[in-house]
Amino acid sequence: MPEVRSSGHSPLRAHLGTATVAQTSKSAVSRVSKPAKRVISNAMPTWKSATQQVWKPALRTGAAGRMVTIPRCAPPLATRHSSLPFVLVNMAMTADGKIATANRAISSFGSRRDREHLLELRATADAVMAGARTVDSAKINLGPGPAKYRRLRINRGLDEYNLRVIISGSGSLNPEAEVFQRRFSPIIILTTRRAGERGLKKLRALADDLIVCGEREIDFQTALKWLREKWEIKRLLCEGGGELNGALFRAGLVDELHLTICPKMFGGREAPTIVEGSGIPKLADATQLKLKSMRRIGSELFLVYDVQRRPS
Ligand SMILES: NC(=O)c1ccc[n+]([C@@H]2O[C@H](COP(=O)([O-])OP(=O)(O)OC[C@H]3O[C@@H](n4cnc5c(N)ncnc54)[C@H](OP(=O)(O)O)[C@@H]3O)[C@@H](O)[C@H]2O)c1
Repeated sequence: MPEVRSSGHSPLRAHLGTATVAQTSKSAVSRVSKPAKRVISNAMPTWKSATQQVWKPALRTGAAGRMVTIPRCAPPLATRHSSLPFVLVNMAMTADGKIATANRAISSFGSRRDREHLLELRATADAVMAGARTVDSAKINLGPGPAKYRRLRINRGLDEYNLRVIISGSGSLNPEAEVFQRRFSPIIILTTRRAGERGLKKLRALADDLIVCGEREIDFQTALKWLREKWEIKRLLCEGGGELNGALFRAGLVDELHLTICPKMFGGREAPTIVEGSGIPKLADATQLKLKSMRRIGSELFLVYDVQRRPS
């Protein structure tokens, strides 16, 4: 069993009505614990730790500052009845299978509809996850986007702002990256011992919570269990890049793949694809997918695959 070290202490849990909220006591103050839920306002909030927030079960502040009860009538989202989150991967790729150009200068090439699709998917997830090279190569904040998507989240019983999970085995993250400039929801960093003490210190300054989970590579089975247990993440949306996706597929942890095929070709041997890494040596090792839905909008194809789980 690999070592799991989290910078946060376990939050104390208390039950208020039907809802569960993480509380911290003075003696068990972690840098962060799962925040109290569902406070909606028109302004982009600065996220505060659970110790600073007020718990309002089933009540939220409406647009005019009035308290309203929001019915939970949206259809149920797919989750897993297990100790792990349901993992979705969402990627846009060119017709020749690339997710960026070889020089990594271009990685956003989908249509407006594809961008909406990304935000719609984020609006179904407790947390959005990305690898180090994705968050430091583009101006992305991994957030829920405009108010209409945040309202969708609330109607589904999710927090207004999704959690953000960032992966860096060596601690190579760029503190200037856009994602760290917008503190509207907790940022959780998963890393390994490879980061070393100096790296960990740097990561702690960027993260609201951090877990060391593995020696050189992240042990995702353990990390995802921890995310479900401590942060109550039931649906986790992974937005790449290829290296992170590769690790999740290899570990057999992906449940659903959303793929947008865009009418472009990049070429380039070094241009990344949706799944990077060493690849498989034989056909029998291939990840099996089952096409669940397919939509054509303009010249783009929106595909959804179920990932067939291998017996573990
Ligand atoms: N078209 C799309 O839909 C789309 C989506 C996302 C990204 N992209 C593009 O894809 C490119 C990035 O993809 P990428 O494959 O190069 O990078 P990536 O997966 O975003 O990030 C790779 C980094 O993540 C960390 N990492 C990943 N798996 C790990 C593991 N198992 N254990 C420990 N650390 C792990 C490592 O960070 P450390 O080096 O810190 O250890 C690694 O260098 C960018 O150009 C991005 O813009 C395109």
